[in-house]
Amino acid sequence: MGDQRAATTPVTIDSRSIHDEFVIRFGRQPKLFRAPGRVNIIGGHTDYNDGFVLPTTTGLYTWVAIAPRTDRTLRVFSCRFDSMEDIDLDQIKRLDDGQWCEYVKGVASVLEASGHSLCGADVVIDGDIPLGGGLSSSASLEAALAFALLDCAGVTIDRGELAQLCQRAETEFVGVRCGIMDQYVIARCTNNRAMMLDCRSLEFQSVAMPAGARLLVVDTGVSHRLPVGDYNSRREECEQAVALLASKIPRLGALRDLELERLEDEKKALDDQLYRRCRHIVSENQRVKDACSALQRGDVVHLGELVTASHVSLRDDYEISCAELDALVEIMISCPEVYGARLVGGGFGGCALCLVDSTQLEQVIDKVRIEYGELLGRPPWMHVVTASDPVGPAPAIELPDPPQSDANP
Ligand code: GLA
Repeated sequence: MGDQRAATTPVTIDSRSIHDEFVIRFGRQPKLFRAPGRVNIIGGHTDYNDGFVLPTTTGLYTWVAIAPRTDRTLRVFSCRFDSMEDIDLDQIKRLDDGQWCEYVKGVASVLEASGHSLCGADVVIDGDIPLGGGLSSSASLEAALAFALLDCAGVTIDRGELAQLCQRAETEFVGVRCGIMDQYVIARCTNNRAMMLDCRSLEFQSVAMPAGARLLVVDTGVSHRLPVGDYNSRREECEQAVALLASKIPRLGALRDLELERLEDEKKALDDQLYRRCRHIVSENQRVKDACSALQRGDVVHLGELVTASHVSLRDDYEISCAELDALVEIMISCPEVYGARLVGGGFGGCALCLVDSTQLEQVIDKVRIEYGELLGRPPWMHVVTASDPVGPAPAIELPDPPQSDANP
C-alpha cells in the first residue's frame, strides 16, 4: 500500500458543537455557517476542459463560527489541526505550503481584491469531510468561509460569483489549478439532486437522484505524494494537446470542442500519452451526457455501467488511479448489488464511490468493509451520501425542552 493517511475517526459536528467551541475560545456568541462536501457521480477532470460534470453534495460539511472584531485581524482556529492563526487583512502573505491556513488567506485575499471589503473577525472552523480524500474538503472550506466573511462584513453576493471567487482563491493563491465544479455545486446544489453542469456556460440542470439506489463512498486511506503537481500536470497536458490540435481544427477552444472521430483523424499530431489524455476527456464528456439521460430515465443499470467505464478510462487513459483505488473499485463491482464504481476527485488516492441497490446497502457495506479492510489493515472510513443544503447559514441550535411546570393551570 502507498502512504497511509491517518484513519478518519467519525466525529459528529453540529451547530451546538461548533457554537460551544467558539464560546470556549472567544467568550462571546458567534453566527454559524456551513458548506457541504461534494461527490462527483461522473465527469472526472472534464471541468477544467470546459466540459460537463454530474456532481451532487454529500451530507458531510465544513462548519464556520464567526463574530466580527473592530480591527483588521482574522483570528482563526482550526479544530481539525488544533491550530490558531492570526491574519492581517492589510498584509496577507502567501506561504505556498498548501496548509489549511493558505485556503483561509486565499479566500480573504481574493474577496478583498475583487472589491468586497471585509472586517476583522474571530473564526472557528471544523468539519467532517476527509481531508484530501477527493470529496472537496478544500472547496467546502473556501465556500463556508467566504459566505461567513461576507455575511460578517454585511455583503451579499450572487452564489455563482461566490463559487468563482472561491475557485480563484484555490488557483491563484493556493496554486491548485482546479476547475469550477466543486465550488459551483457547493454553492448552488439542491437537496437530494445531482447537478448536470456545463462548465463553460455554467448553465445547469438539476436531476433527481435515483429512488432505488444510494451512493456509498469509501476512503482508500492512502494519498500519494505530489498530488497537486500531478493534478496540474494533467491540466497542462490538456492545454498542450489543444495547442497542437488548434492549427488543424479551427475553433478548438478547449477539449470540450473535440469529437472522438475528429480526434482519431488528427491523432498523428499527438504522442500516445497526449492522445490518451484527450481520449479520456472526450469520451468522458459523452459519458456525462449519457449518464444524465440515464438518471432522468431512472435507468440505474446503465448509469452504473457508465460510472465503471469512467473509472477504466481514468485508470488507463488519464492515469490518475493507483493500486489501492483499483483494488477498492474491483471489490465494489464484485458485489452483485453494485451497479458501478469509480474513483472520485483528483485521483492518486482518496475515495471511490459505488452506486448500490438501496435495498442491499448493508450487504455491500459489510463486504467492502471486510475485504478492503483486510488489504488496508483496518476498517476503511465509509459514508452513505445523504441530502444536503448548499453553503449558507447553519441550522439553528436545538434548545432543550423547557422543564415541565408542576403548577396546575
Ligand atoms: C478536483 C478539482 C476539480 C475537478 C476534480 C476532478 O476535485 O478540484 O475541479 O477537476 O478534481 O474531476
